Amino acid sequence: MEDYGLAHQWILALHSYFAYVVLAVLFLAVANGILGWTGNKDFTLRKDFRISLFALILSHLQLLVGLVLYFVSSNGLNAIKTLGMGGLNSASRLLAVEHPFINIIAIVFITVGWSKHKKVLEGKRKFKTITIFYGLGLILILSRIPWAQWLN
Ligand code: HEM
Ligand code: HEM
Repeated sequence: MEDYGLAHQWILALHSYFAYVVLAVLFLAVANGILGWTGNKDFTLRKDFRISLFALILSHLQLLVGLVLYFVSSNGLNAIKTLGMGGLNSASRLLAVEHPFINIIAIVFITVGWSKHKKVLEGKRKFKTITIFYGLGLILILSRIPWAQWLN
């Protein structure tokens, strides 16, 4: 793998470790949504609002770091510049195209879910909104993680 220097290494490390936190908190937010929705619970400021907001903020931070990474990494935009769209194999297409593109869509889902949950008043509908939009976002993210390179 080509190396674009220290910036790349640090930002990749940040994005890589941060991914654990983002996935864990998103998972908690979805699980909390399902429990609240199916259990007809009250949507509380202390717990339910906070965990959903926390998941939103962490996703946005990861988006920001991911965008920077896309421009400094040899596996992001530079791969497309070097190889051309048609020259990417499935592994390099995952990093340069599918992961960034799908994750931006996933974070749009999460942000829309956050916005919508604020507009509905009933607790059950708040939980339902969070569950569906955050859940879809999480599934999209999980579908395009470069597992092989992450966990080695
Ligand atoms: C590329 C970077 C980012 C983009 C494109 C982005 C985009 C957005 C958008 C469109 C919303 C509106 C949601 C709504 O309608 O309520 C939003 C809300 C929010 N963002 Fe970001 N964001 C980014 C980075 C960040 C970062 C780095 C943080 C914090 C560390 C952050 C924290 C928040 C918070 C707390 C809200 C919710 C505000 C509320 O309750 O209405 N965002 N963001
Ligand atoms: C919640 C959303 C995201 C998660 C959980 C996530 C997670 C990850 C993980 C685990 C890796 C592998 C890291 C490693 O090799 O150790 C990775 C790589 C990468 N991510 Fe993300 N990511 C997210 C969003 C994004 C976004 C929105 C972009 C760009 C717009 C992006 C751009 C990249 C790039 C370019 C790489 C490859 C970097 C390299 O190999 O040099 N990511 N991401």
